[in-house]
Amino acid sequence: MENTTNSISNSNSDSNSNSKLHPNEKKRVHAILVVLPQQGHVIPFVQLAIKLASKGFSITFINTEHIHHKISLSNAAVVGKDGGDIFAEARKRYSGLDIEYMTITDGLPLEFDRSLNHDQWVGATTHCFPAHLEVAINRILRSRPSVGCCLIADSYFVWAAKLASKFGLVHVSFWTENAMVLDIYFHRHLLKQNGHIGPGSSGRKDNINYIPGIKSLKRTDLTSYLQEEDLTTFHPQYNFAALDDTKQAHFILGNTVQELEAHTIEAVEAHVPFYAIGPLFPPGFTKMPVATSLWAESDCTVWLDSKPPSSVLYVSFGSYAHINKEELEEIANGIKLSGVNFLWVIRPDMVSSDDPDPLPAGFRDEVRDRGMIVTWTCQKAVLSHCAIRGFLTHCGWNSTLESIWCEVPLLCFPLLTDQFTNRKLIVDDWKIGCNLCDVKPVKKEEVFPKIKDLISGSMGCELHIKIKSIKQVLQNATMMQGSSERNVDDFIQELSIAIQKK
Ligand SMILES: *[C@@H]1O[C@H](CO)[C@@H](O)[C@H](O)[C@H]1NC(C)=O
Ligand SMILES: *[C@@H]1O[C@H](CO)[C@@H](O)[C@H](O)[C@H]1NC(C)=O
Repeated sequence: MENTTNSISNSNSDSNSNSKLHPNEKKRVHAILVVLPQQGHVIPFVQLAIKLASKGFSITFINTEHIHHKISLSNAAVVGKDGGDIFAEARKRYSGLDIEYMTITDGLPLEFDRSLNHDQWVGATTHCFPAHLEVAINRILRSRPSVGCCLIADSYFVWAAKLASKFGLVHVSFWTENAMVLDIYFHRHLLKQNGHIGPGSSGRKDNINYIPGIKSLKRTDLTSYLQEEDLTTFHPQYNFAALDDTKQAHFILGNTVQELEAHTIEAVEAHVPFYAIGPLFPPGFTKMPVATSLWAESDCTVWLDSKPPSSVLYVSFGSYAHINKEELEEIANGIKLSGVNFLWVIRPDMVSSDDPDPLPAGFRDEVRDRGMIVTWTCQKAVLSHCAIRGFLTHCGWNSTLESIWCEVPLLCFPLLTDQFTNRKLIVDDWKIGCNLCDVKPVKKEEVFPKIKDLISGSMGCELHIKIKSIKQVLQNATMMQGSSERNVDDFIQELSIAIQKK
């Protein structure tokens, strides 16, 4: 393999900072990382763990048993027969990483269908998981002497600030999304004062221009939970609680890029110090030494190799969101009418766990010669393939960053949570993608010309030019002396000061 210890971090693990890689054991700062049990969150968390470990941290990485179980089922070869440790390979590859891996129950039985019983799952993650975590942290702190310890928890947990303060730990919140979403949540009282959220607000079509750091925004660009008229229900309340907890953190690390969101980040920083350290990708982009996929991946390389360059539409709605059957059928028929080559990821639970093959009858046969349909695949390998020309996507943040990195323009069909805000950045601000449909419900008559224009028309060309320049911004940020690298170092410095004060 091409990697050496040096290539793990672009700048700071080179020779002049070797002392940081192998410091005196007792001098290490210890970070307990607690990852949110969802695919899109596990991956950047793993990268964060490796990045901090490569800069001399000692890490305890805590995963839920359920997510660990799913990862080991689909990656037996990588995780090892004992199914023990997702970092085993990374440790072998890069010497000197001090990462301890641990799993903790979320309180539900392993076999329980969390996708079908989502609210129960969130309930367990809110109430049972932190109880188990507390016991574990107590044990970890007794057994691991260090110069100081911090808790780095996903911003979507509701209990992190409380837990950190209980143990006297510095609380670092890891925000896996862009700064705009965070800024909106931090100023939701303004949205309420102006009547853009809450009862009676759904008809508002005027611009929202009073949120610090955001020039202009529509109500439909807010996260799905803020768009609900009744904000007293479970999901909006959960998100508000999580973001209120995040607002109390000592530091926020964000998987975004300073240059892309400078004003928004400034507005967030008025509340909590924010460090843009994204995009968090493994060195080499597709070659991840840590298994994180929750499903077995189909290798699509041979099929992609058989297609002409820039001829294929990649279609995926991510690891988590569901889509309704009528929409799926319209999209399928639109893809069929477009006549383009396509690779489509259809998770067995994409419509519902009860309906494993939701495609229209006969669809698979009709498109056999130009379509490949898989249940899961390595998205980065697909996006990096030269046959791919466009990405029909739910606009998950991680997918957005990956698509930019691979210079693949986006066709946007947001479904849930932050995806609506991501769409605004992609289509309205950065102009690297276009909407699949301008108003829902989506219709095949609107879908097929958009796809054709993206794959072989002038729209595709214009978006491609623009996305290449945004990619440059991302690339610069991750280079030595780039903003993300500098921000990681600044964070580490400020964290040490905060730990000393504790
Ligand atoms: C991003 O999300 C997609 C879809 O959920 C998944 O296939 C991919 O592996 C994820 N990659 C990263 C780096 O998070
Ligand atoms: C990226 O960095 C290069 C080299 O420093 C510079 O010439 C270029 O203008 C930068 N591009 C962007 C988009 O920031």
